[in-house]
Amino acid sequence: MAFSSSNGSEESEMYHAQIHLYKHVYNFVSAMALKSVMELGIADIIHNNGKPITLSELASSLKLHPSKISVLHRFLRLLTHNGFFAKTKVQEEEAYVLTPPSKLLITTKPTCLAPIVKGALHSSSLDMWHSSKKWFTEDKGLTLYETATNESFWAFLNGNHDSLIMFQEAMAADSHMFKLALKECKHVFENLESLVDVGGGIGGVTKLINEAFPHMKCIVFDQPQVVANCSGNENLSFVGGDMFKSIPSADAVLLKWVLHDWNDELSLKILKNCKEAISHKGKKGKVIIIDIAIDEESDDPELTELKLDYDLVMLTMFNGKERGKKEWENLIYEAGFSNYKITPICGFKSLIEVYP
Ligand SMILES: C[S@@+](CC[C@H](N)C(=O)[O-])C[C@H]1O[C@@H](n2cnc3c(N)ncnc32)[C@H](O)[C@@H]1O
Repeated sequence: MAFSSSNGSEESEMYHAQIHLYKHVYNFVSAMALKSVMELGIADIIHNNGKPITLSELASSLKLHPSKISVLHRFLRLLTHNGFFAKTKVQEEEAYVLTPPSKLLITTKPTCLAPIVKGALHSSSLDMWHSSKKWFTEDKGLTLYETATNESFWAFLNGNHDSLIMFQEAMAADSHMFKLALKECKHVFENLESLVDVGGGIGGVTKLINEAFPHMKCIVFDQPQVVANCSGNENLSFVGGDMFKSIPSADAVLLKWVLHDWNDELSLKILKNCKEAISHKGKKGKVIIIDIAIDEESDDPELTELKLDYDLVMLTMFNGKERGKKEWENLIYEAGFSNYKITPICGFKSLIEVYP
């Protein structure tokens, strides 16, 4: 937003500044309205309707009390303004259709990102922000999450089955986008006989790789409690363990959305264990990292804002970080690798191939 006013007056500049500040303060309203619409299942209703839906039809599908019809209209007005719905006419009456972002909330589609909305806007992710002043003024080496709750986010997940499932479902949902990206980066996985997906959760990405390359031996490696109830097939197995201790050997190690959870010291430890895992039988494999690469110079401001938002989420929850290209390079070389290549994928992530 530009702050210089048309007539250059101090008042006009103040008004612009006020709008800027208010807009950022009330950013949460759009996010929470989106969550409400997700919880009501509105994307599914519009999708199943098969044609544009009027407000009264939508209210009747939702079995809303008549007093809530105008409430729904106002939620939809904001979210239409924000690009989540579009308006058209059905027999002179206003009707709503889905747009590409709200199509990502259709729960019957594999590309559904509703679990991300649910997890990111869950009170366990949001409440900690009220302790940020305390966190800033203390020096206990804790994350914001630990300052607010007295336990790490990982400990919370491990002690709370429903939240662990919610987190893993969010991760798996995010991984489906990878199916589209896999078409573009198929060559990265070709000719690999084996792959271990470290911190692979419940196997969202590995299942897609297994479908695309059924002859590749794939291992999903994660904490024992995460993979305990997962089952695979002849070439897809789930192994519990600790990536800070050792990682099963394979031609390639995949690390999707893992290193951003950890600071440089711990990421180095993981990368060194990955190097060990791909150096078996004298063969030289590679490590495939899928994570964010911040690039403020080349990315448009909206994309940079998303990446910087993610950086604060990683910082506050895990003491992790999103890295710029130079930071990735430093980490990769410090872990003893000799070469790497960064390719943007999935809109806002990057695929980083790392060679010993
Ligand atoms: C952000 S999630 C990414 C999941 C998956 N790669 C994806 O993109 O869907 C990070 C994963 O690292 C796993 N993890 C955390 N600590 C670990 C450890 N010490 N050893 C193995 N996995 C670990 C978590 O259980 C979680 O599944």
